Amino acid sequence: MPTCCVLQSLARLQLILMLNYATIRPYRSEDLEFLYEISLRTGHMGGDASHLYRDKRLMGSIYSAPYAVLEPEFVLVVADEQGVGGFIAGTDDTNAWEERLERDWWPILRNQLTPPPLHAVAASPDLRRIEMIFHPRRTPSHIAEAFPAHLHLNILPRLQHQGLGSRLLKIWIGAASGRGVKALHVGVNRGNTGAIAFWRSHNFKELETESPKTRTLWMGRKLSVA
Ligand SMILES: CC(C)(COP(=O)(O)OP(=O)(O)OC[C@H]1O[C@@H](n2cnc3c(N)ncnc32)[C@H](O)[C@@H]1OP(=O)(O)O)[C@@H](O)C(=O)NCCC(=O)NCCS
Repeated sequence: MPTCCVLQSLARLQLILMLNYATIRPYRSEDLEFLYEISLRTGHMGGDASHLYRDKRLMGSIYSAPYAVLEPEFVLVVADEQGVGGFIAGTDDTNAWEERLERDWWPILRNQLTPPPLHAVAASPDLRRIEMIFHPRRTPSHIAEAFPAHLHLNILPRLQHQGLGSRLLKIWIGAASGRGVKALHVGVNRGNTGAIAFWRSHNFKELETESPKTRTLWMGRKLSVA
């Protein structure tokens, strides 16, 4: 393929990579249920959160489905003979994304859910996520400005530790660079030590600033850094 076409393919995440144990390919609408499932099964500090939630779609409703529905061209999946077992999803401009969610995504969910009680401390994981849907917290402005893009990367245990997360990340970053992205961040649960080790090994640095500390550790990477 000529260089210009390779670059165009990367910028649109059109490449298909077939390994002997899995395939990396662009997201398709029929993958959506897998994304809900993957978000749930990797949603408790990187481990299975199924036992924590009564509503099994809440995690995906926040962390994967909006990307798949609103910006599917920025989503890649990894699939094997059991189906889709991982994804990477994200956006180039976090501030614009959060405004888009407020316009096009949260209202749909708010219509389907019972609002959380006013001034109540979220007493369960379900309530905490519902609270996030009704009153989403914005990414700290200094992080969204210095590291505008962000992403989510989740792989089921059967496909972890085989280099797939690293491959997905490399392809996503290559595409993002092609679109002009200069820096990106991730938000990691502080208890998710495996993921923190993964991001560190891919040159993401801790962006610690908040006081008092929240559950989220922000990590960022400038794309000029190899
Ligand atoms: C973190 C994650 C995306 C990494 O993807 P992966 O395909 O397993 O990663 P790779 O095989 O490319 O690289 C693995 C390396 O990352 C680091 N790493 C990943 N998971 C780790 C863990 N649980 N404990 C320690 N190191 C880990 C190690 O350096 C590891 O090298 P090793 O396999 O030689 O030990 C994947 O494990 C995952 O989806 N976890 C659950 C969901 C999650 O936590 N997502 C990130 C949320 S911010």
